[in-house]
This record gives sequence, structure tokens and C-alpha cells, in this order.
Amino acid sequence: LPIVLGLLVLAYLLGSIPTALWVGQRFFGLDIREHGSGNAGATNTFRVLGKKPGSLVMAVDVLKGWAATSLAQVMLQQGAIQEGQLLYFQLACGILAVLGHIYPVFAGFRGGKGVATVLGMMLAIAPLTVGVCLLVFLAMLFIWRYVSLSSMTAGLAFALLQLLPPFRPDNSLLLIFGFVLAGLLIYTHRANIQRLLAGTESRVPLFGRR
Ligand code: G3P
Repeated sequence: LPIVLGLLVLAYLLGSIPTALWVGQRFFGLDIREHGSGNAGATNTFRVLGKKPGSLVMAVDVLKGWAATSLAQVMLQQGAIQEGQLLYFQLACGILAVLGHIYPVFAGFRGGKGVATVLGMMLAIAPLTVGVCLLVFLAMLFIWRYVSLSSMTAGLAFALLQLLPPFRPDNSLLLIFGFVLAGLLIYTHRANIQRLLAGTESRVPLFGRR
């Protein structure tokens, strides 16, 4: 039990690493939450600070979701949980990392929207489904050029895809979690939704278009 509890706390702490905030402060001397969309995430880092810092934040935020979720394997190896409990603890570690990212203890509980960290979490659990969601994300981004809309659609696609035979999980808990995560992403994007409806959401300059 101490191992399990310790690793659950570690999952939250990993998620809590405020990559966008620290990259902005360390290399640019600014608080990313006071610029662009005000979000401490990869998208806003791309927007405000450019490609290299944006890619770094993206990579670290995905990695921390993946690493936190993989702590469940450590629990298994340590004999702290049973094989049949692995998925439950992967989901617990993953969601704690995502909540850490959104409400980071190292950044006054004002973090990001959880997209990259959910991506890392689900890469560790259902990579095939995530692959299809990435295609959905890119298609949406190509058509509409809103990262927020693409993120929410990809999150919803993850939940809906699991209703289809090739992606259907053995454990229906994963299906429920898919909808919980999609709901969480819609919740963290509530300000974006208002901007989308008002027509004021910022678009990604892509493919030479403006
Ligand atoms: O990853 C978060 C993204 O979906 C929206 O970010 O900065 O446009 O609010 P932002």
C-alpha cells in the first residue's frame, strides 16, 4: 500500500511539472499565462514563444502523461498490485497526472488544459485509438485551424471510437474513462468554446494561409 500511494502521489507531481510556465520563465523571462490565450500549455507556447519552445513543452507534457501512467507497471513489478488491476491503476495514475497538469501544485494550481498529458496517458494505454485520434486532430486543424476545436474533437473521437469493434476495449471502464476525459477537455476549453461561438478564437497560421 505505501508503494501504491507513493506512486499515485508521484503521478500527480509529474503531471504538476508546469513545463510551459518554466520554459517561459527560464528562457524568456515571462509568465506565459499573461500572454496569448493565457494558457500554460504547448499551444500557447507555440503561439507566444515559437516552434522550438512549443515543441519542447509539447514533448515534455506528453512524456509526463506517459511516464505517470507507466508508474502502474512499476506497481505491478513491485508486487503491489495484481495483473488484473493494471488498467485501473494506469487510469488512476494517468488521470492524476492530467489533474496535476491542469491544477499544478508547483504553479499555484493554474496550469494547462490537459490535451498533451491526456495524449501521453492514452498512448500508454490505447495507442491504436490514439493514432486515429491524431488523424482526426490533424484533419480538424487543417480544415478549421483552431487547436482548441481540434483538441476537443479528438478527445470526443477517442470516446466514440471505442464503441466500434476494432477499438472496443476489453474493459468497459476504459470506455467510461474516454467519456470522462472528453468531458474534462470540454470543461477545460470552456473559455475557448465561448471564443469559438463569438468568432474571436485565434486560428493557427498554417499552409501559408492567414
Ligand atoms: O492544448 C490546448 C489547446 O487545445 C488550446 O490552447 O492556448 O488555444 O487556449 P489555447
